[in-house]
Amino acid sequence: MKTYRIGVIGLGQRIAHVLAAMQEMGWTLEVAGHVDPAPVGAPILARAGIAPGRAFETPAELIAAGPYDLLMVGTPNHLHFEHINLALDTGWPVFAEKPIVRTAAETLALAGRLAKGGTPPLFIGLVMRSMPIVREVIARVDRGDLGEIISVDATEHLPPEHGAYLARNWRRRAEWGGSYFLDKVVHDFDILGRIAQGRVARVASFGGRRVFTADRAEFAPRTWSDGEAAYGAMDGGWMGANDAFQSDMDVTDHQTAILEYDNQVRLTFHANSHTSLPERRWYVAGTEGTMIADLARNKLMIRPALSRKKPERIDYGGVTADAHNGADQAMAVDLLAALEGEAAFPVTPFDSMEAGLTVMAIDEALATGEVLDCRPMWARYDAARSASPIRS
Ligand SMILES: NC(=O)c1ccc[n+]([C@@H]2O[C@H](COP(=O)([O-])OP(=O)(O)OC[C@H]3O[C@@H](n4cnc5c(N)ncnc54)[C@H](O)[C@@H]3O)[C@@H](O)[C@H]2O)c1
Repeated sequence: MKTYRIGVIGLGQRIAHVLAAMQEMGWTLEVAGHVDPAPVGAPILARAGIAPGRAFETPAELIAAGPYDLLMVGTPNHLHFEHINLALDTGWPVFAEKPIVRTAAETLALAGRLAKGGTPPLFIGLVMRSMPIVREVIARVDRGDLGEIISVDATEHLPPEHGAYLARNWRRRAEWGGSYFLDKVVHDFDILGRIAQGRVARVASFGGRRVFTADRAEFAPRTWSDGEAAYGAMDGGWMGANDAFQSDMDVTDHQTAILEYDNQVRLTFHANSHTSLPERRWYVAGTEGTMIADLARNKLMIRPALSRKKPERIDYGGVTADAHNGADQAMAVDLLAALEGEAAFPVTPFDSMEAGLTVMAIDEALATGEVLDCRPMWARYDAARSASPIRS
């Protein structure tokens, strides 16, 4: 097998984990160079026995030392648009982390560029698409096992240390991360849109910051029941803040949303970043059956609507401490198959932009406090894709 020569822009925790998973799944790879002022992922890469390659000051210098078989973009979200565009200019295949970009304006600009064609393959790390449980969810929906999808209830509830990390890491600021939902649950809205098989038409959202606030800093308990200090287990990383309660966080720490798709599928979503009973679950109700995908435990349960038998249960096992449950390894296999021309990657840049826009609509509804009509947003997106942008 050929050795993949890889260039990295943003060698953080994520790209280091993805590279480690690629190696674990049989890739022969060499990180030839990287650009990162302080690579947060360096220890993870070292543990995997992968050398980080030459350190370059700028993406232009990294690119000048090419060619590469793959350029990987793992910078904070506000830099994706710039770095993806630079990478696309080279003509070499690109892997970029989700969310593909951070704003609606960036989405329209990138959609216009990609729609024109002539760009190299762009793979987005919407890693849940590669999970066997998620592939089965999609297959069951497509096969009609649930009949017509009527309504969906979905959740993502994080443990306190994860919430504290979000409150200290760059994700705490909209200018860097976008929003809590954009960074954390764009995965879910990608799959939920695929399940609904429609585009969100109307949305409302309520949420805020009521956990990681300065006025709770004094009296919030700071120790776990076994005496260990709480809220500092994970390093804050790039632009990190010291204290989860006294950072300059401006995104939500809990949020709810209610959505109606253009085919009348109705969906509710509930997320909280400080829970003692973590959960990531999609409850999908159709005319012919009901399905619960428990992503935290990697278990699927499904039963036809009029069945009096026990539900069918599939346990995918492989639950891991990082909560990714083997998704990174599955994506590494998909990425290699796509680069070798053996199979299409399970998610396209357009899927990724549509998931991003859905979440941006939720956040706009949160900001206005109104029910948002999403049709003008999709009209702008479709116009960008047909390379004749309209203004409003
Ligand atoms: N697919 C997933 O499941 C998943 C999981 C985690 C993170 N992510 C995504 O991966 C990306 C990185 O997240 P992370 O958790 O690795 O964050 P991180 O903070 O660990 O890494 C970000 C890295 O970017 C570097 N950086 C900052 N500015 C830079 C610049 N101008 N040029 C080059 N490098 C720069 C930082 O020094 C840091 O090393 C984000 O887009 C995030 O949303 C995806």
